[in-house]
Amino acid sequence: MKTTPYYKRIAFALLLMLSMMQLQAKEGMWLPNMLEQLVFSDMQQMGLRLTADDIYSINHSSLKDAIVLFGGGCTGELVSAQGLMLTNHHCGYSAIQSHSTLDADYLSKGFWAANQGEELPNAGLTATFVIRIEDVSKEVLMGITANMSEAQRSKIVATNCEAIEKKTIEGTHYKAKIKPFYSGNEYYMIVTEVFTDIRLVGAPPSNIGKFGGDTDNWMWPRHTGDFSVFRIYAGKDNEPAPYSKDNQPYVPKKSLSISLKGVKKNDFTFVYGFPGTTQENLCSQAINLTSNITNPVSIELRRKRLDIIDSYMKTSEFIRIQYSAKYASISNYWKKMIGENNGLKRLDAINKKKETEATFNKWLNSNPDYSAQYKDVLPFFENIYKKYAPLAGAYSYFTEGGLGVESCKFAYTYTNIITLSKQKESSNSDIIKAAEKLTAAVGGYFKNYNLNIDKEICLALMQDYYEKGNPAFQPAIFVNIREKYKGDVKKYIEDVYANTLFTDTLKLNKLLKNYKRSDYKKIEKDPLYQLSQSIYNNYYNNIMQPKQQCENQLDSLYRIYVRGLRQMQQDKKWWPDANLTLRVAYGKVDDFFPRDGVRYNYFTTLQGILEKEDPAIYDYVVEKKLKDLQKNKDFGRYGDADGSMHVAFIASNQTTGGNSGSPVMNAKGELIGINFDRNWEGTMSDLMYDPDQCRNISLDIRYCLFVIDKFAGAGHLIKEMNIVE
Ligand code: ARG
Ligand code: ASP
Repeated sequence: MKTTPYYKRIAFALLLMLSMMQLQAKEGMWLPNMLEQLVFSDMQQMGLRLTADDIYSINHSSLKDAIVLFGGGCTGELVSAQGLMLTNHHCGYSAIQSHSTLDADYLSKGFWAANQGEELPNAGLTATFVIRIEDVSKEVLMGITANMSEAQRSKIVATNCEAIEKKTIEGTHYKAKIKPFYSGNEYYMIVTEVFTDIRLVGAPPSNIGKFGGDTDNWMWPRHTGDFSVFRIYAGKDNEPAPYSKDNQPYVPKKSLSISLKGVKKNDFTFVYGFPGTTQENLCSQAINLTSNITNPVSIELRRKRLDIIDSYMKTSEFIRIQYSAKYASISNYWKKMIGENNGLKRLDAINKKKETEATFNKWLNSNPDYSAQYKDVLPFFENIYKKYAPLAGAYSYFTEGGLGVESCKFAYTYTNIITLSKQKESSNSDIIKAAEKLTAAVGGYFKNYNLNIDKEICLALMQDYYEKGNPAFQPAIFVNIREKYKGDVKKYIEDVYANTLFTDTLKLNKLLKNYKRSDYKKIEKDPLYQLSQSIYNNYYNNIMQPKQQCENQLDSLYRIYVRGLRQMQQDKKWWPDANLTLRVAYGKVDDFFPRDGVRYNYFTTLQGILEKEDPAIYDYVVEKKLKDLQKNKDFGRYGDADGSMHVAFIASNQTTGGNSGSPVMNAKGELIGINFDRNWEGTMSDLMYDPDQCRNISLDIRYCLFVIDKFAGAGHLIKEMNIVE
């Protein structure tokens, strides 16, 4: 037998370590204030040419000052000294829709303000900057002892947090929020500044901004020009102020430079934004619950709704517009859950988690001190998930089945006026106010409502709920279906819809207009209202409390489990699960192999848009102007050195919902893309990340500028930006 020389073995071991580091390097969403301590040298090794201070500093301006939480669940970035901001089209969607009318249909046609005076205000929209992030674990855990009950612990934590937050913002216009990290083992305070005068500056037409629609959603190769442009306005002092026409464009502490150089395979990239939720340290029972119970129930119920809505949208342009936003939002997570389940299966995630648990067991048994702290964790998981699983399943039927019926949710909003009407203490004016509020909601609700769709969905979902839902957690009214209707759900639904007020604007308005106290009886007697009551009451009376109890127990178990895992693997760099706080993810531009024999290139081009074009399908219409630009290769300064117009690219930065709109930056911290999605094969990354299969999808910033400049002719916006050629 030949033995390998010593030096070769060392070299091999070093290589192996290096390649493992590279693999590890791609996973993670790091707190920007902890980069230096955890991964900064790794980022530099991969190519980063900035200092940690350039990315996050509390002493001078840094990249963090150019990044905002856009609304409640997206990210945006500042690209000019006059508060100009980029995010995704799908993040600005409802703002764009709210300004759209049949005459000025900005969703379909696009919108470009010719000057600042034409920029459109959006009530309720916010942009939140992070001022600083502080480790306050010690202060938050002050007074906590080891043998305290969970309830006592939570109470002290809550009281401490409140006091610290209050003290922090005293005398400032900032906000402060303390959140748990590492499953509640550490606490960080995020101090923020919230701007509320955010105006729409521009949006491409949907056939660019939403090109490929729900068919291409969560997919690579992708050709969606998913961006929109906003501007932050501030008071005269450059501080947040409510909307006023006298407000001025906000002058940010930092705005991003934009690189026109494009990306190549293996280029270092990082994404800086607000990822919403990940759960990387779930136990095997939890993965089992998601992949075998809650996801399948939700997927099935959503598919039923989508099929019905789709069949109607195909028949009428009017219905298509009415239901487009609803369809997109149901479809988005429907498809995500399918991808997630496929990914979990392919990774054999349940068994992988079981392996981790076996290692954990072995580790804790090796030392009496560990054993004393951790030996109960895994058996307790098993016990609690046994109780929790049926409740989580029932909850899925409640939200995806019961609340999947539009009119059920709508009818339930009448509960308050019934309560008021019955209470002797409530005055007539209270009741009139309640009736007025309901009246105001009628128009908006029916604007995007179709009776046939609603009724068909109600039948399909109730049929499923009735036949497949766990009888221990079904709405009480199902007894009625069983006994009075002999299980004929269809007959029952027919009767409900034949006798309800809640599908008819005129009848409802009439009731509300002359509403008298005693009219509550009419609502109470309404069969759709009764169905809706029964669905909600089943949740409030049978599911909510035991479910919450299990979740509280699980929270404290995960706190202990994650503490143990970190103790077991002290050399591993641990990142805290995403929780809608500012994070940095880093990786590199990279292709991938979705299945045997197939390789997906790392970028797409405008030529691909023409290949996908289909004038007969709404989502694949391509405007002549865009086609001409491609035919004439008229890309201005935005084309790639290879002669084509690049549209999107993929990289191995770990991202999740909330990262939409996040800036994707190169080694020098210049903007090269706008993050907007992930590949379908990688959507299990919220539960288990796979460096081979998980890619984030970004719009190439050059395509964004090309559309603004060459397609829309809004070159005045480009002039505001700092562009590096
Ligand atoms: N999948 C992306 C994300 O989760 C984009 C969704 C919006 N687009 C759509 N076609 N529904 O938000
Ligand atoms: N599309 C998602 C978002 O809106 C991003 C993702 O889930 O990858 O945040």
